[in-house]
Amino acid sequence: MLPGERKVRYVTPALGQVPSGLGSSDPRETPMARTERRTLAVVASVGLTLALATGALAARGLSDDEEALAPTRGRPSAGIERKVDALLARMTTKEKLQQVQLLSDGQITDADAKAGVGSVFSLVDAEKINHFQRVAVEQSRLGIPILFAYDTVHGYRTVFPVPLGAASSFDPEVASADAEVGARESAIQGIKQVYSPMVDVSHEPRWGRIVEGAGEDPYLGSVMGAARVKGAQGTDYSRPDKVVSSVKHYVAYGEAEGGRDYNTTDLSESRLRNLYLPPFKAAIDAGADTVMCSFNSINGVPGCANKYTETDILKKEWGFDGFIESDYTAVAELRACPPVTPDEGPCGHGVAADGPQAGAAALMAGTDSEMVSTNIRDYGEQLLASRQITMKRLDDAVRRILRVKFRAGLFDHPYVDVAKASDPASYGKPADLAKSRWAAGRSMVLLKNDGGALPLDPARSTALIGPFGDTVDDVLGPWPGRGADELAPAHVPLVEGLTAASTGQVTYTQACNLAHNFDPPNVANPPLTPEDEVCAGPGDDGTTIDDAVAAAEAADQVVLALGENAYMSGEANARSELTLPGQQQKLLDAVAATGKPVVVVLLNGRPLDLSAVQGKAAAIFEAWFPGTEGGHAVADVLFGTVNPGGKLPVTFPRRVGTAPTYYNHEPTGRPCDAASKYNSRYRDLATCDPLYPFGFGLSYTTFEVGDLRLSRSSVRRDGRLTASMRVTNTGSVAGDEVAQLYLHDPVASLSQPVRRLRGFQRVSLDPGQSTTVTFTLDASDFGFYDNRGKYVVEPGLIEVYGGDSSTATMKATFTVTR
Ligand code: NOJ
Repeated sequence: MLPGERKVRYVTPALGQVPSGLGSSDPRETPMARTERRTLAVVASVGLTLALATGALAARGLSDDEEALAPTRGRPSAGIERKVDALLARMTTKEKLQQVQLLSDGQITDADAKAGVGSVFSLVDAEKINHFQRVAVEQSRLGIPILFAYDTVHGYRTVFPVPLGAASSFDPEVASADAEVGARESAIQGIKQVYSPMVDVSHEPRWGRIVEGAGEDPYLGSVMGAARVKGAQGTDYSRPDKVVSSVKHYVAYGEAEGGRDYNTTDLSESRLRNLYLPPFKAAIDAGADTVMCSFNSINGVPGCANKYTETDILKKEWGFDGFIESDYTAVAELRACPPVTPDEGPCGHGVAADGPQAGAAALMAGTDSEMVSTNIRDYGEQLLASRQITMKRLDDAVRRILRVKFRAGLFDHPYVDVAKASDPASYGKPADLAKSRWAAGRSMVLLKNDGGALPLDPARSTALIGPFGDTVDDVLGPWPGRGADELAPAHVPLVEGLTAASTGQVTYTQACNLAHNFDPPNVANPPLTPEDEVCAGPGDDGTTIDDAVAAAEAADQVVLALGENAYMSGEANARSELTLPGQQQKLLDAVAATGKPVVVVLLNGRPLDLSAVQGKAAAIFEAWFPGTEGGHAVADVLFGTVNPGGKLPVTFPRRVGTAPTYYNHEPTGRPCDAASKYNSRYRDLATCDPLYPFGFGLSYTTFEVGDLRLSRSSVRRDGRLTASMRVTNTGSVAGDEVAQLYLHDPVASLSQPVRRLRGFQRVSLDPGQSTTVTFTLDASDFGFYDNRGKYVVEPGLIEVYGGDSSTATMKATFTVTR
């Protein structure tokens, strides 16, 4: 079977396995009910063990990763195609050029709507949406409705954990629950397209936008991306609670050199196809009908003028029949600087001399819709006359946009219900807040827990200390949607969550300040450095590090809330340091000097250099930016109501200077060995290991992952085999483990990554319980793309590693034969 084809993974009913019936999934089931069902199923299965052992093995199902990846794209509807053709046949050139225009909320005017503009983004006032829609539908010549879009990235008003956090759950249901709630709340507001999921694989901790995706692994990214598309679109995005997903940023945006946003990417064909394209392909297979092309240049050709990636791969090779919109002014940015025609606006890439050339380059490469800049619209007629663009291509772009509008049901239901959109009861419903809290709990990662410092005792007194203990902005994180406006549910700071969950006294001492700098720096307004923003001086409540020490001494238990503010990650927020900003380390050192075991809770959006934190904290627990219910979700884990089971979706380096650091790197002829000289090491680091590897995370219980078995020792190129592992809860409380399966091809025509994740399953087990998780492997797992862009499956040995992180040592091998 080739990549992209449906591949079934079987979960075989061995000891402690999910029996059939209990294991079947009901699409109407809530994620929480599903987790509960699975837990029950596993519990029930213990009783069935003897019966199952006799060989009555009937249960069969997809593992969660495979279920998320199962393609759902349907066939194009002949009826819609006819309507599109009929409408297109009636359009004038001017109307077509309007249809490929995407304007912002600040740009759109009645005149644009009347002229037949294609789409508008960031407009979130329901009355205005209806107003412009009415002008488009009732006053434009053809009455084509506008597609309204928004960056619903991890929630609209009910905010879920940031996507990097959600990826830490290793649970696609977390991603789909987020997308499902975000789609419903966005649709209530009149939005019919969301600019998500962001599926950019990234090895760059310095890059601020690493927070928006699923981290460094293409397989995890594919699973999470596909789950988000299915959650947002369902099987029919014309439904009133669904929206069309726009997968972004196409492509390799996460590879930005030096981690600087918007920067160049230069990569081999094999890296493009093995690392960066798979999550896009998975999202398209899951039904995503729109794609946003990226700002960066890919081997010298910007993402929005890249015929190879846009037309040859996405549209032709993958058969994508939706549309591609450019990122913000990305078409204008194709121009050389200073900008010409028009003599203003962004410029820089230097692949076009002026606006007309930029418009032509974008359209002819495959970009169907231009965001904010207006080159295709403004110069389209002259470009047609001079044959720099063709009517065939323009028609194709318009056809794609109309197709999505018909599929979205916009022609039948163009308007939003203003009363519902303006009613706070439409958002933050109790069930959705519960989902957000559940998702946040599943997304948290326990990195260190010496001497059982966690969980804390809610009956004892707790000193909560640090800049992030009482901040509301920062629990939401970057791209918070409308999670902080007057229609949004209240979002919960840590101090509120801890106080609500504790019967003992909770005190809060900020100890140092917290500011948020989002103003563009200039000479008159010098930029705040991270050091000025976070923990530069006394707290905004006047407290100091001395007060923090006194509070710690007075309390039974000490929690430090540290990290980055929400504005230090996200777009245009690269950092050149990965340590805790400001005086936070000093604060930790001072509090730790009291001798009390210190629990550090981190709010942040990227892998940090926690080397110094690791040395001082008894426990470290990564909460990311946990969303609306953040304070409660943190308290759930701190007090042990929720046992953390998340795993890192990115490597945490020892120092910024080791970036990029990632588990799925290729080997070298001189593999790293800190103890000898002529090899791939840092002379100033005594180890080759990162601080915390990909896939790592602790629990309040212990697990044993063992008994890695393969169903066969050799397999034909087009054959399949299964790999199973047994997971046992060897501790004393119920908890979750993520069984992880990695492959390595030790001898291949192209040097292959030392490990590649190819299967994972999060399981919930009571103390003493076991389960066997089985994954199916086929050519899509043991082959790879070569530098000609061909998928190859080479005969030879494949190593299989199973365990609880990317450093798993349990190994088996099989041979691929011709
Ligand atoms: C620029 C960002 O790169 C993109 O992710 C976002 O969707 C657009 N702006 C629209 O807000």
